[in-house]
Amino acid sequence: MSKKIILVTGATDGIGKITATELAQKGYHLVIHGRNKTKAQKTVQEIKHQAPNAQVEYLLADLFSLNSVKEMAKQFQENYDHLDVLINNAGAVLDDERCETEDGIEKTMSLNVLAPFLLNQLLLPSLKKSPDGRIINMSSATHRQAKPDMNDLNLQNEPSGQKRYGISKLFVIWNSQHLAGELQKKSITNVTVNCSHPGAVGTNFGQDSDNGFINNLIYKIALHVMPAPEKGAVTNVYLASSDEVKGVTGKFFNNKKQLEQPQDKQYTPEKEQQLWNYCMKVCAPFLEI
Ligand SMILES: NC(=O)c1ccc[n+]([C@@H]2O[C@H](COP(=O)([O-])OP(=O)(O)OC[C@H]3O[C@@H](n4cnc5c(N)ncnc54)[C@H](OP(=O)(O)O)[C@@H]3O)[C@@H](O)[C@H]2O)c1
Repeated sequence: MSKKIILVTGATDGIGKITATELAQKGYHLVIHGRNKTKAQKTVQEIKHQAPNAQVEYLLADLFSLNSVKEMAKQFQENYDHLDVLINNAGAVLDDERCETEDGIEKTMSLNVLAPFLLNQLLLPSLKKSPDGRIINMSSATHRQAKPDMNDLNLQNEPSGQKRYGISKLFVIWNSQHLAGELQKKSITNVTVNCSHPGAVGTNFGQDSDNGFINNLIYKIALHVMPAPEKGAVTNVYLASSDEVKGVTGKFFNNKKQLEQPQDKQYTPEKEQQLWNYCMKVCAPFLEI
């Protein structure tokens, strides 16, 4: 098998861009995902400048669209014979005003939960071809405040963009645990699934969202006082590349590469299963490539 191939979503900015650059510098073959062709091409050039010998290509997808996720997975499979690491990094906090995608899904749920869920399902065959396949899903420390209403998985009754974000990041953890368990049940031991949070770092995160005057101001100030995005990339680079975590699965890591317990106040196995069933149902029309 050739060089290890790593796909990073949301790699045209912030933590994802740094993660992709550092992994390219370590000698991996990087496939970066973006949604804007010009920005993706520019990012490839910037990474190659930082890592002159690196092999770097890009794929495009609008992660608000499940069909676009499917098209990206299809393109990946047509162009690459396997996948070693999938880093589901792309994500955002969105406006307080609730919006739905073309699929009828609340946008935060679609981008932060359903897009990685679907990508994981579609790229599992490619990951299974790796001797050490790894999925890394990006969560957030804000999951600790989340109080999801399991009768409202399309977040119809949650008026705060920030609360919708926290719920989505709790769901990322539950889906990661669940996928890890499913793989173990099927005796698929060469693919692991873990979750991480990057801490609070200064990126474009929250800069374009409208969450009310105070919160908007906090995001603007945070950009200038938060640590650099390099700090937020540490754990994902570690989870993607270190032998120390080979075979470790279903776990949650903090921004210092340490294992941490996610919040368990809201957790029950039944809720985890209910979320999984919901994601499966929504993604069902897109599961065949
Ligand atoms: N920054 C923090 O303090 C912090 C804290 C906790 C968790 N996180 C998580 O860390 C991850 C990375 O965030 P960041 O801080 O690096 O944010 P960022 O600077 O805003 O970067 C987000 C990336 O995701 C992409 N993206 C956003 N919406 C997309 C869509 N609909 N389709 C395709 N791509 C999309 C962006 O593409 P464009 O370049 O085209 O905009 C960009 O590449 C996210 O999952 C976030 O929730 C961040």
